Amino acid sequence: MVKKITVNTIQKYKDNKEKFSVLTAYDYSTAKYLDEAGIDMILIGDSLAMVALGYETTHSIGIEEMSIFTGAVARGVSHAMVVTDMPFLSYHCDISEAVSNCGKMIKLGANAVKIEGFSDYILSVIKRLVDIGIPVMGHLGFTPQFLNTLGGYKIQGKTQEAADEILKQAKELEKAGVFSIVLEMVPQESAKYITENLSVPTISCGAGKYCDAQVLVSDDVFGKFSDFKPKFARKYGDMKSLILDCAKKFDEDVKKGNFPSEDEIF
Ligand code: KIV
Repeated sequence: MVKKITVNTIQKYKDNKEKFSVLTAYDYSTAKYLDEAGIDMILIGDSLAMVALGYETTHSIGIEEMSIFTGAVARGVSHAMVVTDMPFLSYHCDISEAVSNCGKMIKLGANAVKIEGFSDYILSVIKRLVDIGIPVMGHLGFTPQFLNTLGGYKIQGKTQEAADEILKQAKELEKAGVFSIVLEMVPQESAKYITENLSVPTISCGAGKYCDAQVLVSDDVFGKFSDFKPKFARKYGDMKSLILDCAKKFDEDVKKGNFPSEDEIF
């Protein structure tokens, strides 16, 4: 029987000072392999808008697409915790819409949802979701859904004052009931300070090594997405070359009449 990672496991990791790993996945097979590899948490990130669907920003994806990808990932996972990133405009208009859209992700197999940013409204959404049994992951620092108001891909929390502001927001999120918080593009020392002053785990996305966990976009890790590489991402493989190589070999075999062989026909 596979032991499922839950919010309790995640909190225990923090309490025992054990690091945990988070990667994104958007499809069944990738999710299955990440689970088999022992990744603790799998995030259906709205980054899929850019890396899997070719949009310029994360704004273009909606709840219908997230539903399809959430179901696919959840069906591939038996051990890791599955978290769905709630897309732009899926929880912003009113609380009942937020509950209905987040609830849909849980029905499809997600174990939690992630929502970006901080405001009184966001706090009330988190409280309501937690009240009805939906675990929520917060997301502070650089928040891609706020790209236009932040004025671009900018590092957040650079000064002590800015780090204090993120910590203040993080503490409010914690009070509202989040079980973890992503810190994106925050200087390592600021993220360390924030992490040391919180009870819930922090998950670094370009926020250095002192957070309780690390998250990366799997297409960056596999070397599959090649339009750009964030400074904080590490490429562990070269899937682009592998795909090119396989596709070229197939193309050659078809054109030379080497595919299919006797073993590959009925
Ligand atoms: O959309 C995403 O993939 C994310 C993470 C990388 C934190 O939000």
